[in-house]
Amino acid sequence: MTHNFDEIIERRSSGCFKWTQYEADVLPMTVADMDFRAPGPILEALQERVNHGLFGYEWPRDDLLQLICQRMKRVYNWTVLPEEVVILPGLRVGLSLVSAALSDGSNAAITFTPVYPPFFGAATSHGMTSQTVPLKLITDGAILRYEMDLERFTATLTKSTKLLQFCNPQNPVGRSFTVEELRQIGDICVKRDMVICSDEIHCDLLMGDTKHTPFACVSPEISDRCITLMSPSKTFNISGLGAAYAIIQNQELRHRFKKTVQGVHAEINMAGIAAFKAAYTYCDPWVVELCQYLSRNRDLYQEFVLNNFPQIKTTIPEATYLTWLDCRQLGIAGPPYEFFLKNARVALNDGAPFGEGGEGFVRFNFACPRSQMIMALERMQAALVQAGLVAQRSR
Ligand SMILES: Cc1ncc(COP(=O)(O)O)c(C=O)c1O
Repeated sequence: MTHNFDEIIERRSSGCFKWTQYEADVLPMTVADMDFRAPGPILEALQERVNHGLFGYEWPRDDLLQLICQRMKRVYNWTVLPEEVVILPGLRVGLSLVSAALSDGSNAAITFTPVYPPFFGAATSHGMTSQTVPLKLITDGAILRYEMDLERFTATLTKSTKLLQFCNPQNPVGRSFTVEELRQIGDICVKRDMVICSDEIHCDLLMGDTKHTPFACVSPEISDRCITLMSPSKTFNISGLGAAYAIIQNQELRHRFKKTVQGVHAEINMAGIAAFKAAYTYCDPWVVELCQYLSRNRDLYQEFVLNNFPQIKTTIPEATYLTWLDCRQLGIAGPPYEFFLKNARVALNDGAPFGEGGEGFVRFNFACPRSQMIMALERMQAALVQAGLVAQRSR
Protein backbone atom coordinates (compact mmCIF):
# COMPACT_ATOMS: atom_id res chain seq x y z
CA MET A 1 0.00 0.00 0.00
CA THR A 2 1.55 3.31 -1.02
CA HIS A 3 -0.94 5.78 0.49
CA ASN A 4 -0.71 6.13 4.26
CA PHE A 5 -4.36 5.84 5.32
CA ASP A 6 -3.24 5.45 8.95
CA GLU A 7 -1.93 9.02 9.10
CA ILE A 8 -3.81 11.23 11.57
CA ILE A 9 -4.26 14.65 9.98
CA GLU A 10 -5.38 17.59 12.10
CA ARG A 11 -8.56 18.97 10.46
CA ARG A 12 -10.02 21.49 12.90
CA SER A 13 -7.72 24.32 11.83
CA SER A 14 -8.93 23.98 8.22
CA GLY A 15 -12.47 24.95 9.23
CA CYS A 16 -13.65 21.45 8.27
CA PHE A 17 -17.38 21.17 9.03
CA LYS A 18 -17.16 17.70 10.57
CA TRP A 19 -14.37 18.68 12.99
CA THR A 20 -15.55 22.17 14.01
CA GLN A 21 -19.17 21.33 14.80
CA TYR A 22 -18.33 19.94 18.25
CA GLU A 23 -16.12 20.69 21.22
CA ALA A 24 -12.43 19.79 20.91
CA ASP A 25 -12.63 16.52 22.87
CA VAL A 26 -15.35 15.04 20.62
CA LEU A 27 -14.46 12.47 17.95
CA PRO A 28 -16.71 13.15 14.95
CA MET A 29 -17.82 10.04 13.04
CA THR A 30 -20.51 11.96 11.21
CA VAL A 31 -20.40 13.90 7.91
CA ALA A 32 -19.72 11.70 4.87
CA ASP A 33 -16.22 12.79 4.02
CA MET A 34 -13.03 10.91 4.87
CA ASP A 35 -10.19 11.80 7.23
CA PHE A 36 -7.66 10.86 4.53
CA ARG A 37 -5.52 13.15 2.38
CA ALA A 38 -6.63 13.24 -1.27
CA PRO A 39 -4.51 11.27 -3.78
CA GLY A 40 -1.12 12.77 -4.75
CA PRO A 41 -2.00 13.47 -8.44
CA ILE A 42 -4.95 15.60 -7.32
CA LEU A 43 -2.78 17.63 -4.94
CA GLU A 44 -0.23 18.15 -7.73
CA ALA A 45 -2.90 19.25 -10.21
CA LEU A 46 -4.31 21.76 -7.73
CA GLN A 47 -0.83 23.08 -6.90
CA GLU A 48 -0.06 23.51 -10.58
CA ARG A 49 -3.34 25.34 -11.08
CA VAL A 50 -2.63 27.65 -8.11
CA ASN A 51 0.91 28.33 -9.37
CA HIS A 52 -0.58 29.57 -12.63
CA GLY A 53 -1.95 32.45 -10.58
CA LEU A 54 -5.00 33.35 -12.68
CA PHE A 55 -8.43 32.34 -11.51
CA GLY A 56 -10.88 33.75 -14.00
CA TYR A 57 -13.95 32.03 -15.42
CA GLU A 58 -13.24 28.53 -16.57
CA TRP A 59 -15.62 26.14 -18.32
CA PRO A 60 -15.46 22.37 -18.39
CA ARG A 61 -14.24 21.41 -21.86
CA ASP A 62 -14.50 18.35 -24.02
CA ASP A 63 -11.44 16.74 -22.37
CA LEU A 64 -13.35 16.44 -19.06
CA LEU A 65 -16.43 15.00 -20.81
CA GLN A 66 -14.19 12.50 -22.61
CA LEU A 67 -12.62 11.41 -19.30
CA ILE A 68 -16.05 10.74 -17.83
CA CYS A 69 -17.13 8.74 -20.90
CA GLN A 70 -13.88 6.75 -20.79
CA ARG A 71 -14.41 5.99 -17.10
CA MET A 72 -17.98 4.76 -17.71
CA LYS A 73 -16.68 2.46 -20.46
CA ARG A 74 -13.70 1.26 -18.41
CA VAL A 75 -15.53 0.61 -15.16
CA TYR A 76 -19.05 -0.41 -16.31
CA ASN A 77 -18.67 -1.09 -20.05
CA TRP A 78 -21.30 1.66 -20.39
CA THR A 79 -21.20 3.67 -23.62
CA VAL A 80 -21.88 7.30 -22.79
CA LEU A 81 -21.48 10.12 -25.32
CA PRO A 82 -19.94 13.47 -24.27
CA GLU A 83 -23.17 15.30 -25.13
CA GLU A 84 -25.06 13.07 -22.66
CA VAL A 85 -23.05 14.46 -19.73
CA VAL A 86 -24.03 17.60 -17.81
CA ILE A 87 -21.34 18.94 -15.46
CA LEU A 88 -22.60 20.22 -12.09
CA PRO A 89 -21.14 22.04 -9.09
CA GLY A 90 -22.28 19.32 -6.67
CA LEU A 91 -24.63 16.45 -6.34
CA ARG A 92 -27.15 18.09 -4.01
CA VAL A 93 -27.44 20.84 -6.61
CA GLY A 94 -28.18 18.11 -9.13
CA LEU A 95 -30.86 16.50 -6.93
CA SER A 96 -32.51 19.84 -6.46
CA LEU A 97 -32.36 20.83 -10.13
CA VAL A 98 -33.86 17.50 -11.17
CA SER A 99 -36.94 18.37 -9.10
CA ALA A 100 -36.93 21.93 -10.39
CA ALA A 101 -36.92 20.60 -13.96
CA LEU A 102 -39.73 18.10 -13.36
CA SER A 103 -42.02 19.89 -10.92
CA ASP A 104 -45.34 21.22 -12.16
CA GLY A 105 -46.17 22.52 -8.68
CA SER A 106 -48.44 19.61 -7.76
CA ASN A 107 -46.70 16.38 -8.77
CA ALA A 108 -44.73 14.13 -6.43
CA ALA A 109 -41.34 12.48 -5.94
CA ILE A 110 -41.02 9.19 -4.12
CA THR A 111 -38.08 7.77 -2.21
CA PHE A 112 -37.21 4.84 0.07
CA THR A 113 -36.36 5.64 3.69
CA PRO A 114 -34.19 5.91 5.66
CA VAL A 115 -32.31 8.04 3.14
CA TYR A 116 -29.80 10.90 2.86
CA PRO A 117 -31.94 13.77 4.26
CA PRO A 118 -31.49 16.35 1.42
CA PHE A 119 -33.63 14.08 -0.79
CA PHE A 120 -36.73 15.37 0.98
CA GLY A 121 -35.93 19.07 0.57
CA ALA A 122 -34.81 18.61 -3.03
CA ALA A 123 -38.40 17.67 -3.88
CA THR A 124 -40.37 20.00 -1.62
CA SER A 125 -38.31 23.14 -2.25
CA HIS A 126 -39.51 23.02 -5.86
CA GLY A 127 -43.16 22.39 -5.07
CA MET A 128 -43.14 18.61 -5.43
CA THR A 129 -44.72 16.49 -2.72
CA SER A 130 -42.27 14.11 -1.08
CA GLN A 131 -43.68 10.58 -0.80
CA THR A 132 -41.78 7.98 1.18
CA VAL A 133 -41.75 4.21 1.44
CA PRO A 134 -39.82 2.53 4.25
CA LEU A 135 -37.22 -0.03 3.18
CA LYS A 136 -37.99 -3.50 4.50
CA LEU A 137 -35.80 -4.25 7.52
CA ILE A 138 -34.57 -7.83 7.78
CA THR A 139 -32.87 -8.81 11.01
CA ASP A 140 -30.52 -11.76 11.25
CA GLY A 141 -29.30 -11.92 14.87
CA ALA A 142 -27.44 -8.64 15.39
CA ILE A 143 -27.13 -7.93 11.65
CA LEU A 144 -29.52 -5.68 9.78
CA ARG A 145 -30.20 -5.81 6.08
CA TYR A 146 -32.58 -3.65 4.07
CA GLU A 147 -34.54 -4.51 0.94
CA MET A 148 -37.02 -2.66 -1.21
CA ASP A 149 -40.67 -3.34 -0.49
CA LEU A 150 -42.11 -3.37 -4.00
CA GLU A 151 -45.69 -3.97 -2.89
CA ARG A 152 -45.66 -1.00 -0.57
CA PHE A 153 -43.88 1.06 -3.20
CA THR A 154 -46.56 0.31 -5.78
CA ALA A 155 -49.32 0.95 -3.26
CA THR A 156 -47.88 4.38 -2.41
CA LEU A 157 -47.64 5.55 -6.04
CA THR A 158 -50.34 7.92 -7.21
CA LYS A 159 -51.12 9.42 -10.60
CA SER A 160 -49.05 12.44 -9.64
CA THR A 161 -45.90 10.47 -8.70
CA LYS A 162 -43.52 11.44 -11.49
CA LEU A 163 -40.07 10.94 -10.00
CA LEU A 164 -38.23 8.18 -8.16
CA GLN A 165 -35.35 9.60 -6.13
CA PHE A 166 -33.09 6.62 -5.73
CA CYS A 167 -29.90 6.24 -3.71
CA ASN A 168 -27.55 3.45 -4.79
CA PRO A 169 -25.31 2.55 -3.06
CA GLN A 170 -27.69 3.51 -0.33
CA ASN A 171 -26.85 6.09 2.32
CA PRO A 172 -27.31 5.26 5.23
CA VAL A 173 -28.02 1.51 5.00
CA GLY A 174 -25.02 0.60 2.81
CA ARG A 175 -26.86 -1.58 0.31
CA SER A 176 -25.52 -1.98 -3.21
CA PHE A 177 -28.65 -3.08 -5.05
CA THR A 178 -28.41 -6.09 -7.36
CA VAL A 179 -29.26 -5.95 -11.06
CA GLU A 180 -32.43 -7.92 -10.34
CA GLU A 181 -33.55 -5.53 -7.61
CA LEU A 182 -32.88 -2.58 -9.91
CA ARG A 183 -34.76 -4.22 -12.76
CA GLN A 184 -37.84 -4.85 -10.61
CA ILE A 185 -38.11 -1.29 -9.37
CA GLY A 186 -37.07 0.14 -12.74
CA ASP A 187 -39.74 -1.83 -14.57
CA ILE A 188 -42.41 -0.36 -12.28
CA CYS A 189 -41.12 3.13 -13.11
CA VAL A 190 -41.23 2.33 -16.83
CA LYS A 191 -44.84 1.11 -16.53
CA ARG A 192 -45.86 4.21 -14.55
CA ASP A 193 -43.99 6.58 -16.88
CA MET A 194 -41.82 7.95 -14.10
CA VAL A 195 -38.37 9.53 -14.26
CA ILE A 196 -35.65 7.87 -12.19
CA CYS A 197 -33.05 10.08 -10.56
CA SER A 198 -30.32 7.72 -9.39
CA ASP A 199 -27.85 9.25 -6.92
CA GLU A 200 -24.76 7.06 -7.33
CA ILE A 201 -22.26 9.27 -5.49
CA HIS A 202 -21.04 6.30 -3.42
CA CYS A 203 -20.58 4.01 -6.47
CA ASP A 204 -16.79 3.58 -6.09
CA LEU A 205 -16.80 2.90 -2.36
CA LEU A 206 -17.26 -0.84 -2.68
CA MET A 207 -16.49 -3.13 0.23
CA GLY A 208 -15.08 -6.62 -0.28
CA ASP A 209 -16.14 -8.07 -3.64
CA THR A 210 -19.19 -5.83 -4.21
CA LYS A 211 -19.73 -4.66 -7.80
CA HIS A 212 -21.76 -1.58 -8.68
CA THR A 213 -24.26 -1.52 -11.55
CA PRO A 214 -25.43 1.92 -12.70
CA PHE A 215 -29.25 1.91 -12.76
CA ALA A 216 -29.21 3.13 -16.35
CA CYS A 217 -27.23 0.04 -17.45
CA VAL A 218 -30.03 -2.35 -16.48
CA SER A 219 -32.06 -1.91 -19.69
CA PRO A 220 -32.48 0.58 -22.56
CA GLU A 221 -36.03 1.34 -21.33
CA ILE A 222 -34.70 2.27 -17.90
CA SER A 223 -31.81 4.28 -19.34
CA ASP A 224 -34.33 6.22 -21.40
CA ARG A 225 -35.91 7.68 -18.22
CA CYS A 226 -32.84 7.80 -16.01
CA ILE A 227 -30.88 10.75 -14.69
CA THR A 228 -27.71 9.30 -13.19
CA LEU A 229 -25.90 11.56 -10.74
CA MET A 230 -22.25 10.77 -10.06
CA SER A 231 -19.28 12.64 -8.69
CA PRO A 232 -15.58 12.29 -7.88
CA SER A 233 -16.17 13.96 -4.51
CA LYS A 234 -16.75 11.02 -2.16
CA THR A 235 -14.34 8.66 -3.94
CA PHE A 236 -11.35 11.00 -3.91
CA ASN A 237 -12.29 13.01 -0.80
CA ILE A 238 -12.68 16.30 -2.64
CA SER A 239 -16.23 17.16 -1.59
CA GLY A 240 -15.22 20.73 -0.69
CA LEU A 241 -14.30 21.37 -4.33
CA GLY A 242 -17.82 20.99 -5.71
CA ALA A 243 -17.70 18.66 -8.71
CA ALA A 244 -20.40 16.34 -10.00
CA TYR A 245 -22.21 15.36 -13.19
CA ALA A 246 -25.43 13.98 -14.57
CA ILE A 247 -25.65 11.42 -17.36
CA ILE A 248 -28.94 11.65 -19.25
CA GLN A 249 -29.28 9.59 -22.42
CA ASN A 250 -32.82 10.68 -23.27
CA GLN A 251 -32.43 13.83 -25.34
CA GLU A 252 -35.68 15.51 -24.33
CA LEU A 253 -35.11 14.89 -20.63
CA ARG A 254 -31.54 16.12 -20.95
CA HIS A 255 -32.58 19.35 -22.68
CA ARG A 256 -35.15 20.01 -19.98
CA PHE A 257 -32.59 19.45 -17.23
CA LYS A 258 -29.88 21.47 -19.00
CA LYS A 259 -32.23 24.42 -19.38
CA THR A 260 -32.85 24.41 -15.62
CA VAL A 261 -29.11 24.10 -14.88
CA GLN A 262 -28.28 26.96 -17.22
CA GLY A 263 -31.12 29.06 -15.81
CA VAL A 264 -29.44 29.22 -12.41
CA HIS A 265 -25.84 29.20 -13.72
CA ALA A 266 -25.00 26.07 -11.76
CA GLU A 267 -21.34 25.92 -12.77
CA ILE A 268 -18.30 23.98 -11.59
CA ASN A 269 -15.25 26.06 -10.61
CA MET A 270 -11.66 25.87 -11.87
CA ALA A 271 -10.31 24.03 -8.79
CA GLY A 272 -13.06 21.43 -9.15
CA ILE A 273 -12.18 20.94 -12.81
CA ALA A 274 -8.43 20.50 -12.08
CA ALA A 275 -9.07 17.95 -9.31
CA PHE A 276 -11.74 16.12 -11.32
CA LYS A 277 -9.44 15.67 -14.33
CA ALA A 278 -6.55 14.39 -12.20
CA ALA A 279 -8.89 12.00 -10.34
CA TYR A 280 -10.29 10.42 -13.50
CA THR A 281 -6.92 10.32 -15.27
CA TYR A 282 -4.51 9.03 -12.64
CA CYS A 283 -6.27 7.79 -9.54
CA ASP A 284 -7.82 4.36 -10.27
CA PRO A 285 -5.03 2.59 -8.27
CA TRP A 286 -5.73 4.86 -5.28
CA VAL A 287 -9.36 3.76 -5.25
CA VAL A 288 -8.29 0.11 -5.09
CA GLU A 289 -6.09 0.85 -2.05
CA LEU A 290 -8.80 2.95 -0.44
CA CYS A 291 -11.42 0.21 -0.77
CA GLN A 292 -9.03 -2.36 0.69
CA TYR A 293 -8.42 -0.13 3.70
CA LEU A 294 -12.10 0.67 4.16
CA SER A 295 -13.10 -3.00 3.81
CA ARG A 296 -10.69 -3.90 6.61
CA ASN A 297 -12.16 -1.09 8.75
CA ARG A 298 -15.61 -2.45 8.06
CA ASP A 299 -14.59 -5.97 9.10
CA LEU A 300 -12.97 -4.75 12.33
CA TYR A 301 -16.02 -2.59 13.04
CA GLN A 302 -18.26 -5.65 12.60
CA GLU A 303 -16.13 -7.75 14.93
CA PHE A 304 -16.07 -5.02 17.58
CA VAL A 305 -19.78 -4.26 17.50
CA LEU A 306 -20.87 -7.89 17.48
CA ASN A 307 -18.54 -8.71 20.39
CA ASN A 308 -19.13 -5.66 22.52
CA PHE A 309 -22.51 -4.07 21.86
CA PRO A 310 -24.97 -6.89 22.56
CA GLN A 311 -28.12 -4.75 22.46
CA ILE A 312 -27.16 -2.91 19.29
CA LYS A 313 -27.89 -4.23 15.81
CA THR A 314 -25.96 -2.99 12.80
CA THR A 315 -25.74 -3.07 9.04
CA ILE A 316 -22.57 -4.43 7.45
CA PRO A 317 -22.28 -2.21 4.37
CA GLU A 318 -21.74 -3.71 0.94
CA ALA A 319 -20.78 -0.21 -0.19
CA THR A 320 -20.29 3.25 1.34
CA TYR A 321 -18.20 3.80 4.48
CA LEU A 322 -21.33 4.26 6.58
CA THR A 323 -22.94 1.92 9.07
CA TRP A 324 -26.39 2.20 10.56
CA LEU A 325 -26.94 1.12 14.14
CA ASP A 326 -30.25 0.20 15.73
CA CYS A 327 -30.02 1.38 19.34
CA ARG A 328 -33.68 0.93 20.20
CA GLN A 329 -33.03 -1.98 22.56
CA LEU A 330 -30.51 -0.07 24.64
CA GLY A 331 -33.27 1.49 26.68
CA ILE A 332 -31.74 4.98 26.43
CA ALA A 333 -34.05 7.89 27.18
CA GLY A 334 -33.86 10.32 24.24
CA PRO A 335 -32.04 9.99 20.93
CA PRO A 336 -29.01 7.66 21.05
CA TYR A 337 -26.73 10.18 19.31
CA GLU A 338 -27.21 12.47 22.33
CA PHE A 339 -26.23 9.66 24.68
CA PHE A 340 -23.01 8.95 22.75
CA LEU A 341 -22.15 12.62 22.34
CA LYS A 342 -22.59 13.35 26.02
CA ASN A 343 -21.19 10.17 27.53
CA ALA A 344 -18.68 8.88 24.97
CA ARG A 345 -17.69 12.21 23.40
CA VAL A 346 -18.28 10.57 20.02
CA ALA A 347 -20.46 12.37 17.49
CA LEU A 348 -22.73 10.21 15.33
CA ASN A 349 -25.52 11.23 12.99
CA ASP A 350 -28.98 11.17 14.49
CA GLY A 351 -31.11 8.68 12.55
CA ALA A 352 -34.37 10.66 12.78
CA PRO A 353 -33.69 13.17 9.94
CA PHE A 354 -33.21 10.19 7.57
CA GLY A 355 -36.97 9.74 7.58
CA GLU A 356 -39.31 6.95 8.60
CA GLY A 357 -37.36 4.09 10.15
CA GLY A 358 -34.58 6.39 11.39
CA GLU A 359 -35.66 7.12 14.94
CA GLY A 360 -33.61 5.26 17.53
CA PHE A 361 -30.79 4.73 15.02
CA VAL A 362 -27.41 6.42 14.52
CA ARG A 363 -25.08 6.55 11.51
CA PHE A 364 -21.36 5.83 11.96
CA ASN A 365 -18.72 6.90 9.41
CA PHE A 366 -15.65 4.61 9.44
CA ALA A 367 -13.65 6.42 6.71
CA CYS A 368 -10.86 7.41 9.04
CA PRO A 369 -7.53 6.06 10.27
CA ARG A 370 -8.12 2.70 11.91
CA SER A 371 -6.80 3.86 15.29
CA GLN A 372 -9.42 6.62 15.30
CA MET A 373 -12.25 4.24 14.47
CA ILE A 374 -11.17 1.87 17.27
CA MET A 375 -10.91 4.79 19.68
CA ALA A 376 -14.46 5.85 18.86
CA LEU A 377 -15.80 2.31 19.34
CA GLU A 378 -13.92 1.90 22.63
CA ARG A 379 -15.31 5.20 23.88
CA MET A 380 -18.83 4.11 22.94
CA GLN A 381 -18.31 0.79 24.70
CA ALA A 382 -16.97 2.49 27.85
CA ALA A 383 -19.99 4.82 27.91
CA LEU A 384 -22.37 1.89 27.62
CA VAL A 385 -20.58 -0.01 30.39
CA GLN A 386 -20.51 3.10 32.61
CA ALA A 387 -24.25 3.57 32.13
CA GLY A 388 -24.82 -0.07 33.02
CA LEU A 389 -26.29 -0.72 29.57
CA VAL A 390 -23.82 -3.46 28.66
CA ALA A 391 -21.57 -5.63 30.76
CA GLN A 392 -17.80 -5.26 30.48
CA ARG A 393 -16.53 -7.99 28.13
CA SER A 394 -13.06 -9.24 27.51
CA ARG A 395 -11.89 -8.69 23.91
C1 LIG B 1 -26.22 10.07 -1.22
C2 LIG B 1 -25.55 11.41 -1.22
N1 LIG B 1 -25.84 12.30 -2.19
C3 LIG B 1 -25.27 13.51 -2.23
C4 LIG B 1 -24.34 13.91 -1.28
C5 LIG B 1 -23.74 15.28 -1.31
O1 LIG B 1 -23.13 15.55 -2.52
P1 LIG B 1 -22.51 16.99 -2.81
O2 LIG B 1 -21.56 17.27 -1.68
O3 LIG B 1 -21.82 16.84 -4.13
O4 LIG B 1 -23.63 17.95 -2.85
C6 LIG B 1 -24.02 13.01 -0.24
C7 LIG B 1 -23.09 13.41 0.81
O5 LIG B 1 -23.01 12.83 1.86
C8 LIG B 1 -24.63 11.74 -0.23
O6 LIG B 1 -24.33 10.83 0.71
